[in-house]
Amino acid sequence: TSEKPWGGRFSEPTDAFVERFTASVGFDQRLYHHDITGSIAHATMLAEVGVLTTEECDRIIAGLNGVKEDIEAGRFEWSVSLEDVHMNIEARLTDRIGITGKKLHTGRSRNDQVATDIRLYLRDEIDVIAEELRRLQAGLLDLAEREADTIMPGFTHLQTAQPVTFGHHLLAWYEMLVRDAERLQDCRKRVNVMPLGAAALAGTTYPIDRSITARLLGFDRPSENSLDSVSDRDFAIEFCSFAALLMTHLSRFSEELVLWTSAQFDFIDLPDRFCTGSSIMPQKKNPDVPELVRGKSGRVTGHLMSLLMLMKSQPLAYNKDNQEDKEPLFDTVDTVKGCLKAYADMVPAIRAKAGNMRVAAKRGFSTATDLADYLVKKGMPFRDAHEVVGKAVAFGVAEERDLSDMTLEELKRFSDTIDEDVFDVLTLEGSVQARDHLGGTAPAQVRAAVARARKLLG
Ligand code: ARG
Repeated sequence: TSEKPWGGRFSEPTDAFVERFTASVGFDQRLYHHDITGSIAHATMLAEVGVLTTEECDRIIAGLNGVKEDIEAGRFEWSVSLEDVHMNIEARLTDRIGITGKKLHTGRSRNDQVATDIRLYLRDEIDVIAEELRRLQAGLLDLAEREADTIMPGFTHLQTAQPVTFGHHLLAWYEMLVRDAERLQDCRKRVNVMPLGAAALAGTTYPIDRSITARLLGFDRPSENSLDSVSDRDFAIEFCSFAALLMTHLSRFSEELVLWTSAQFDFIDLPDRFCTGSSIMPQKKNPDVPELVRGKSGRVTGHLMSLLMLMKSQPLAYNKDNQEDKEPLFDTVDTVKGCLKAYADMVPAIRAKAGNMRVAAKRGFSTATDLADYLVKKGMPFRDAHEVVGKAVAFGVAEERDLSDMTLEELKRFSDTIDEDVFDVLTLEGSVQARDHLGGTAPAQVRAAVARARKLLG
């Protein structure tokens, strides 16, 4: 007779390659903890509704706890011929407690079991990720506050546009993460629904009470439809979608950090502990952490694509295809946790080179818009002011001089409405301080935004 729990109707052993090809235990063993938690809740419910006796339930729970100890002590030998984490644990339970172990699977299928396991696993990981994301957000707020007065060039098209404060730039990153955190919590709501009780696909003939298992497992509610319950992986896709977008943001941050640490920008310093060197070029200090995070965003987006493709042609209900959901999901979780940790550790250590940022902000006529606004306030229509300042910039380009380095007489050649007070608006400080409204770059606004964000972050 076969050792397979499903061996009854088979007349020859599984082909050795097929056995390995179809097994998932190599990667789904990481679900052991949640599998056992789900089984304990299932057994408890079966006893409450009278399908198992209290003694049977107690033996099963004790046995499952023993199996968990074996796994955690490294005493558990995972067997490929037992295919997956579920059948491995069930077989070991029966080894330990005998025939009662064979009653655990009453009114249940691996189909609703695995769907439950993944949701329990993902719910826990979401809570870990949410905390790590918060840590990064808090670090960004501290850095933004520290750099509220630091002036850097703001860019569009990566060409100098207008001066901004470094704190303001960091708060732009922060806003992206606020949306990510919201998306994560929204996704969690749909993760936290319990498929257990759907059995293979149609439900079960036993008088199960799904509200009991849902409560024991901390789910918000049992799912509505048994066919949907065993086949739905939307929650995993939603999580990977959250992750892909978060990684897109971290990748954008990374791109800027890489640029800023270059000798050509030289805006920031990343401490040595986040960088590595070159085996041939003695001078090198490479921003490996941001580069790797930027690179890892690709695989996370790839995992989202994998899951979408995995699901798109599946008929109802469960199909073995679904076993392919785990590796992309697990790798997404691991990658996101790693990248968030790296960032949460690194961000507080970023050091702004304020002098270099300032010099860069002065190049490229970053206060040209301020001069145009100045002329408008003296009564000139904006389009005319734009033209006047354009001429002044062309002169500055030819002379290799900033607007603020021109004399009043020179400036007056472009418009005689220009007076001595123009030099107040042509300074970098004047430029950023003038943008003093909700969402603007003024240092006072950065401080106010940090205070509001801290309150919301809690
Ligand atoms: N290892 C399977 C998976 O990951 C568990 C469910 C298998 N169910 C089945 N009827 N073959 O999806």
